[in-house]
Amino acid sequence: MLMTPLYDQSFIRGAVAVIRDMTEERRLDKFRKDFIANVSHELRTPITMLQGYSEAIVDDIAESKEEKNELAGIIYEESLRMNRLVNELLEIARMEAGHFELNIENVNLEPFVEKIHKKFSGLAEENNINLTLTKNLEVPDAIFDPDRMEQVFTNLIDNAIRHTEEQSNVNIIATNNIQEFHVDITDSGSGIPEEDLPFIFERFYKADKSRTRNKQKKGTGLGLAIAKNIMEAHQGTITVKSKLNEGTTFSFQIPKD
Ligand SMILES: Nc1ncnc2c1ncn2[C@@H]1O[C@H](COP(=O)(O)OP(=O)(O)OP(=O)(O)O)[C@@H](O)[C@H]1O
Ligand SMILES: [Mg+2]
Repeated sequence: MLMTPLYDQSFIRGAVAVIRDMTEERRLDKFRKDFIANVSHELRTPITMLQGYSEAIVDDIAESKEEKNELAGIIYEESLRMNRLVNELLEIARMEAGHFELNIENVNLEPFVEKIHKKFSGLAEENNINLTLTKNLEVPDAIFDPDRMEQVFTNLIDNAIRHTEEQSNVNIIATNNIQEFHVDITDSGSGIPEEDLPFIFERFYKADKSRTRNKQKKGTGLGLAIAKNIMEAHQGTITVKSKLNEGTTFSFQIPKD
């Protein structure tokens, strides 16, 4: 609240008060602080690893060639992860600043979804997961940015595979009609605790907070935030349904036009 006295020549005859709702400013301020804290944390872990392992090589702690290669391999993996993190950060910053152009095209859906299915079948096989594709396509095409849309598929399928046990299923169900293009990515994996669901699309949010997770499950918590941004740019929506220990379904849809 801002207040100013109102003068009439020499005496005060009242006051003007302006009351402003600052909720949004406070929210943005908190967001900025959290964002910096999160970025620093995410970068610190790989940097510590790079320092530790390269020091071991420099100091000849790793003696054999195999040991050296192993350490160099870890350094390489961590540098890839850092690179991915920085790219994701740039991407999300660009999206949220509104500098985000869509290259909208008329896309033929059948080859588009088949290509994505094929792209992930190797990863699924490596993890002993049964990845299936179901197509209910009433109309042959839909209008969207194919690269961005592939990114949404990629982020969701990657999550589904990473959070699903061996011998389980991940299904991609692509449906379209004259009104919309709708996709479900369903897995019979670990599920997401109910209390985490409202926050799952926020940047850096990870439902599994333990830092001791196996390497495969390590992520930065940006994948879903990026997917949501892309959907919104397409005037679409993305939602999640999940039950702990039973599985998760992420659904997204965009209007036909
Ligand atoms: N299919 C799923 N099953 C179980 N948990 C999931 C699933 N998808 C997402 N999650 C949970 O949601 C969190 C956020 O997912 P998101 O894709 O945004 O980040 P990430 O996978 O941790 O990292 P990134 O995708 O940036 O590498 C994950 O850390 C995980 O806890
Ligand atoms: Mg992810």
